[in-house]
Amino acid sequence: MTAAATSRAVGTPLPRLDGHAKVTGTAPYAYERRPDAGPPLYVHPVQSTIARGRVRALHTEDAEAADGVVAVLTHRNAGRLDDLKDEQDGELAVLQSDAVAFRGQFIAAVVAETPETARHAASLVRAEYDQEPHDTELRADSPALYTPGRVNPAFASDTDEGDVDAALASAAVTVDRTYTTPMEHNNPLEPHTAVAVWHPAEGGGPAEGGSAEGGPGNGGVRLTLYASTQGTHPARKTLAPLFGLRPEQMRVTSPHVGGGFGSKGMPHAHDVLAVLCARAVPGRAVKLALTRQQTFPLAGHRTPTIQRLRLGAGADGRLTAIAHEVVEHTATVKEFAEQTACGTRMMYAAPNRRTSHRLAALDVPVPSWMRAPGEAPGIFALEAAMDELAAACGLDPVELRVRNDPPADPETGKPWSGRHLVECLREGARRFGWTGGSPAPGSHVEGNEQVGMGVAASTYPYYASRGSQALVRYDGEGRHTVRIGAADLGTGTWTTLTQIAADALDRPFDTVTVEIGDTDLPSATVAGGSSGNASWGSTVVAAVRAFRMEHGDEPEPGAQTLGSTPENPDAERFAMHSFGAQFAEVRVDVDTGEIRVPRMLGVFSVGRVINPRTARSQFIGGMTMGLSMALHEHGVLDHRTGHVVNHDLAGYHIAAHADVCGIEATWLDETDEHANAMGARGIGEIGIVGAAAAVVNAVHDATGIRVRDLPVTPDKLL
Ligand code: MOS
Repeated sequence: MTAAATSRAVGTPLPRLDGHAKVTGTAPYAYERRPDAGPPLYVHPVQSTIARGRVRALHTEDAEAADGVVAVLTHRNAGRLDDLKDEQDGELAVLQSDAVAFRGQFIAAVVAETPETARHAASLVRAEYDQEPHDTELRADSPALYTPGRVNPAFASDTDEGDVDAALASAAVTVDRTYTTPMEHNNPLEPHTAVAVWHPAEGGGPAEGGSAEGGPGNGGVRLTLYASTQGTHPARKTLAPLFGLRPEQMRVTSPHVGGGFGSKGMPHAHDVLAVLCARAVPGRAVKLALTRQQTFPLAGHRTPTIQRLRLGAGADGRLTAIAHEVVEHTATVKEFAEQTACGTRMMYAAPNRRTSHRLAALDVPVPSWMRAPGEAPGIFALEAAMDELAAACGLDPVELRVRNDPPADPETGKPWSGRHLVECLREGARRFGWTGGSPAPGSHVEGNEQVGMGVAASTYPYYASRGSQALVRYDGEGRHTVRIGAADLGTGTWTTLTQIAADALDRPFDTVTVEIGDTDLPSATVAGGSSGNASWGSTVVAAVRAFRMEHGDEPEPGAQTLGSTPENPDAERFAMHSFGAQFAEVRVDVDTGEIRVPRMLGVFSVGRVINPRTARSQFIGGMTMGLSMALHEHGVLDHRTGHVVNHDLAGYHIAAHADVCGIEATWLDETDEHANAMGARGIGEIGIVGAAAAVVNAVHDATGIRVRDLPVTPDKLL
């Protein structure tokens, strides 16, 4: 084929390829898949009602006797999971013992002909417990505190550079404040679901004995899992060994995902439960959809944090010391060490810097990823403290940040691949009409409202994973197909990968088909850490280059080439992070304390933007989640019972349309030549980072009240 004149797709605001199907209800989500395995069965779990102890007795007779019930699984009959040697996998050790480690944990499940029957029968299961004392309350002096070996994904738990104590003691200006953030919960529109079919070995029945080369006891078995997941291959890698299966015996498929935010980034207990139930009814499809209430303890949540920030500066605002000490929780069954202070390590130039993380292993549900884990709560505290420092120095908060912009990464000394925070701040200030805030906080009153504005900086690391593969194929008649087991959790990555592939092929966008979301496709890494586009895009570009090298400009139909993620030597040489500046205007009703946020603006530096339309959606989606974090989100644990009492969207408030007024996002026109072939860093998470601090800082400007404990509810302003 001759190089057709192609308009370049990258940089074009193309609508999402899956957009029409999603908004018209024709995109099949996992739960809607209809496996060719007869009428499906339905699973409804039974959850523990204590936070810690043992199940002494489970009365399942009434459930078993209910019409339409096929099976009731408990730890007594669910069957063993293999390969649970790693005790850190306790979250996935579903129905493996009588131990209860948090309230809401699965203790049984009903499999029935209809979802209603399953739910009713689940309510008939009665548990007796030997209850043990529990502790679910995070306190700075919790007896359960320990120092984790690492924080996620693999950072040192503590860092200490210079002499922080001496610098703080001699600083002209200091800030010493403690900020707290509550438990927060992912609530993707599509709840967590799994449809599983355990295809028995040829010859029928669950295999005994296994085959020569097979997994233990399961030779010939095949397992299909229709999942709502941010990574089919990573999910299989985790789940297949639990069931004694080799990877090729298990297929995970997940083309459409209705949001994840990290909560679908790794398999959770419901995936294991669905497969356990499928194994109990071989040849039948079983469907499991967590209810909204069940997702609160079972889909991963953001740990609460207690963060002490100490800043020391000269009278000119130049930082001499930063100390950021974090206390947060994890579960007893699995360590999840949120990297809350890591953003502080690289954010500002101060010769003396200390960060630390302490975890309390409590009798709580298992925390996990939630959009910008680490940066979202950590940068909230840092940027709120910076606002307090600006006030203490009598400086414009924008100017304070400009003065402390480091020429190289303070943590590693490496040059930045592109740090443009100052440009973001200046551009944002210009566009927003930044005035530096009120001369006296609380003094700007219009009618019945106090008015203020706030600013905060934003950052997110650049992650790209190696280990993906893409297959490029020429289909004839000018059409190409690219296959990669990537995931689009609602971000638009399916579309951006197609743009990247089309440009690499030098072909029009609509001649390229990209297939994703299936372990039958070449292996791909997880959609996490805002790394998807970078990891898979660079893999696609490498595969296309290899294809063109191998097959030239006139490929035969059927010609294909498999390519892998290329090495990036610059990854070690440069400090790669994205940056942004967030601005918010706040109006507070002087009588009721009601907080309105009429305007937010984010200006981001993220390298090259592949698709301005989907990028804007990611930014304003993240900022909306930050607004939600600032004003609403608060998972309330009743420490008497260990129960998340507001476990639905009636009690757990999130920003809704009426809360979201004018949110605008824009970005610098740039390319990060050190990142990858596209010049693009990730964009999925940075939008939430700093957004809550901008709102909280604006609340202070409006009212003169510093709220250091999220969320900022009206009672805190009265
Ligand atoms: Mo994101 S919280 O790494 O899916």
